[in-house]
Amino acid sequence: MNLLIRNARILTLAGGDRPRRGKALGELGIVEKGDVLVRDGRIEAVGSGLAAPDGAEILEAHGRVLMPGFVDCHTHACWAGDRLAEWELKLNGVPHLEILKAGGGIPATVRAVREATQKQLAASLKARLDAMLREGTTTVEVKSGYGLQTDAELKILCAIRRAAHDWPGTIVPTALLGHAYEGNIEEYSRMVVKEMLPAVAREFPDIAIDAYCEKEAWPVEACVRLFEKARKHHPIRVHADQFNSLGMLPEAIRLGARSVDHLEASTKADLLQLAQSRTCGVILPGTGFHTNRRYARGGFFADAGGALALATNCNPGTAPTHSMPFALALAVRFCGLTPAEAISAGTVNGAAVLGLTDRGTIEAGQRADLIILRHRDERLLAYEYGGNPVDVVIAGGRRIS
Ligand code: NIG
Repeated sequence: MNLLIRNARILTLAGGDRPRRGKALGELGIVEKGDVLVRDGRIEAVGSGLAAPDGAEILEAHGRVLMPGFVDCHTHACWAGDRLAEWELKLNGVPHLEILKAGGGIPATVRAVREATQKQLAASLKARLDAMLREGTTTVEVKSGYGLQTDAELKILCAIRRAAHDWPGTIVPTALLGHAYEGNIEEYSRMVVKEMLPAVAREFPDIAIDAYCEKEAWPVEACVRLFEKARKHHPIRVHADQFNSLGMLPEAIRLGARSVDHLEASTKADLLQLAQSRTCGVILPGTGFHTNRRYARGGFFADAGGALALATNCNPGTAPTHSMPFALALAVRFCGLTPAEAISAGTVNGAAVLGLTDRGTIEAGQRADLIILRHRDERLLAYEYGGNPVDVVIAGGRRIS
């Protein structure tokens, strides 16, 4: 299908290095009253007064904002069951450790996921993906991590692949092999390195490998052992400094991780070190909003020249949200980003975290993942919250809404 979008305020995010850093993070490459021509799923031209090829659909934007679809580069969106009872306990002040002792937290979702079939997991993921798409997310990373056994982790990854088949956007699976553990961490983590990692690598050769470094999750040493092995063939990513700064962040830089995600408890010194490295920092403000009101110092990291990305962390325990516009609204209020920085962090820089260079900007040759907002001023994306600011979604050149 060919499509000509006319008379839009285009946020091209074009040019410069990827990921965007420093001053460039806030530069949106705006073209006023511009047109975009889409042919066979790709952007063919960006300019003004473009002619429509024969038979092309013409979409009049009336000056509304046209921008790249969001790239949500950190989610745990493939799960079964719910954590509502646990949430009520939390609201009533029951401490996290007691909830864990009572079988809540990640283990509760692990039990539900093990009981679900691959088909059921794919169906519930698909419903969440559709909700994401309606709010402008056209590329989503989805992690495993609720299996904790080789078969169950593979089941989740296959469910993610299955959901990807009939979804118009793009899904990037990540193998979160170090999310939690059962029994003894030493033995469990050795099993992951010896058995789970090779089994996953056979089925998903290029997949990124992730771990959650935290007091009640994987310690630094176990994460490092996993990553030393994994990084030979896979990109690596890590959840670090969500509640405690344990020393994983400098290790992640040393190991060449693609990203360090969370950063709520990171020291300023660690953030400065991260900002000077090639590793991206991913902030997840939906987590602080739902759990403890603690937010990453995204603005500080960005001002220090860091490659900053922004994501929802969609999961049943700490961030039950699928909405990138809401993540932007939170990042601007609580993490110190400007609306423009939040837009770059949720599009082109999210794509960089996933190793994708064919999206996140509006330039000739890019995949036509585009959204048109209800608004003529992009700051309204972060200013308003709780509604859907997205009017039109185009994924791979196909108009979805
Ligand atoms: O990013 N930090 C680890 N994983 C998730 C929580 C997942 C859950 O509670 O189910 C997070 O917050």
